[in-house]
Amino acid sequence: MAAHIVIAIDGPAASGKSSVARALARRLRYRYVNTGAMYRAVTWLAVSRHVDPKNADAVHLLLDATRIECGFDAAGESTILLDGMDPTAHLSDGAVNASVSSIASIPDVRRTLVAIQRASCTESDVVMEGRDIGSAVFPETPYKFYIDATLEVRAARRQKQGVADKIEARDKQDSTRPMSPLIIAEDAHVVDSSHLTIDGVVGEIIGRLKLKNLALPEGI
Ligand code: DC
Repeated sequence: MAAHIVIAIDGPAASGKSSVARALARRLRYRYVNTGAMYRAVTWLAVSRHVDPKNADAVHLLLDATRIECGFDAAGESTILLDGMDPTAHLSDGAVNASVSSIASIPDVRRTLVAIQRASCTESDVVMEGRDIGSAVFPETPYKFYIDATLEVRAARRQKQGVADKIEARDKQDSTRPMSPLIIAEDAHVVDSSHLTIDGVVGEIIGRLKLKNLALPEGI
């Protein structure tokens, strides 16, 4: 059972969940955990060490030999260091986008990162975003949201960011892997963000949290 409140935000690539989760965490004064960044960080490590992301044994050895330090910055956003190195600047590289779903399908990688994710709510309430937060990392939380948008809208968002990212292929790989695939948790509230602003989605989530009687900071 989580020690603090966990608000789970899941959804496919480029659905807007990072922007929504960050904005929601700021409004509620919770910490924000970006689990995609953790899978991306491990992918960056494998790519930069010339380890084949599809070779589960080699990735396992690399992970075993690496010191992973996760924490929070002054703004309450999750951070990750690998052997003391900060991979943040490389997390959206084309090479990382191309291999992150392969890395994320390796059970050892998931077990290691999920343990870190579960430990990250021991000191404070968190908004955590990813693919399996409501279905596998914190299935007991009553606060689950699934942010969706049409493929066209999501592809246009990525294009605007100017990064190479085959989101349809990534979604397919993420939703068909055997271990904790991307699914809509049974009790998740689905928000279609195709025609909503970030504030619009955050507003809908807050409305839902109020209906569930979650105590919110004054003025919200
Ligand atoms: O949210 P994102 O696009 O930054 O995530 C990158 C990849 O990481 C995504 O394609 C699949 C993987 N991922 C995952 O398997 N489980 C999570 N909880 C978060 C991300």
